[in-house]
Amino acid sequence: MDKSRKPATIAAHAAGATDLQSGGVVPALQPSTTYLRDEDYALVRPDNIYSRADSDNLRQAEEVLRLLEGAEETLLFPSGMAAIAAVFRTLSNGDTAIVQSGIYWGTTAWIRDFCARREINLIEADADALLATCETQHASLVFIETPSNPWLKTLDIRAIADSTAAKLMVDATAATPILTRGLDFGADIVMHSATKGINGHSDVLAGVLSTCARDARIWEMIRADRKMAGAILGPFEAWLLTRAMRTLPLRVERMSQNAQALAEHLLAQDGVDDVFYPGLPSHPGFDVASRQMQGGFGSLMSVIVKGRKQDALRVVGKLQLFLRATSLGGVESLVEHRHTIEPHTGIPENLIRVSVGIEDIGDLIADWDQALG
Ligand SMILES: Cc1ncc(COP(=O)(O)O)c(C=O)c1O
Repeated sequence: MDKSRKPATIAAHAAGATDLQSGGVVPALQPSTTYLRDEDYALVRPDNIYSRADSDNLRQAEEVLRLLEGAEETLLFPSGMAAIAAVFRTLSNGDTAIVQSGIYWGTTAWIRDFCARREINLIEADADALLATCETQHASLVFIETPSNPWLKTLDIRAIADSTAAKLMVDATAATPILTRGLDFGADIVMHSATKGINGHSDVLAGVLSTCARDARIWEMIRADRKMAGAILGPFEAWLLTRAMRTLPLRVERMSQNAQALAEHLLAQDGVDDVFYPGLPSHPGFDVASRQMQGGFGSLMSVIVKGRKQDALRVVGKLQLFLRATSLGGVESLVEHRHTIEPHTGIPENLIRVSVGIEDIGDLIADWDQALG
């Protein structure tokens, strides 16, 4: 499909994927692991040999994401963590990586363990110190997450890209490619947990990497490693992802509207001390987010309720529409008490992480009002 098409068109048409064999307006699901050769031993389809490397369903999903991201090449992985690991595995012993602290705990935990095992010099820097760290430290890779989970810190991708000679990798999961196209702001590699908003139905685990420099050494290593080491997304998951992404722009628009309204409402409530949401003018990252996020500020926020751990847990327990479960970006609203999951990371015990879905905003606000009451 033509690159100039708008995201809603690219997504609704799944970048032009149909099934020419049956005439179906949606692509067929092809689960075969291996592909036929003819009597002369020539491949029936020269680009299809074996499904660790070759899958039409994977290519279809990747093409939608590539166009949405404005990328040269996009690769899918079986989870967000597998996508992050694919980039870090390109580092050599003795290299230096600068990684933002206070990001998704699973990422921090894996990177710390990996860097220790591989003798990679890991420098962790808080969002506020990251720019200065990039300016003063020589590194091979910089990894940031914006907006960050669960603090909703917003980093200026362009400023960080300009401050370092290192490759810049941006986890933009909480923004989705609909709100932020990190490559446009100078990122070398953009990553998403596609498990979250991109799939949006809490039924597929996937991760994605995109680049605008497909010939760069780091990207060639990532592509070769995926093929050889086999961290590949299955065709059914890829097919589901393509299906889900048809409504991605619509879902993101509605979630962002709902989240904005809920954030503003909660900030005005007596039982709430603070709300971290990049769409609130009081948020320290509001100016950067306004430049970097187009069409809304996403579905993720954190609410600091008045009181202590038991008060936060009481609110969480009383919510009826916000399901108590980890994850974010699905059509159904979720809440999570992160302190229960990661008490050692300094996360406040009265912080409630909220992922706002596409339900009726009046119902969502009423649910919070009764829970806070
Ligand atoms: C910001 C962020 N990055 C990466 C991940 C990891 O993604 P996955 O669960 O798909 O492996 C998560 C998961 O919660 C996340 O929130």
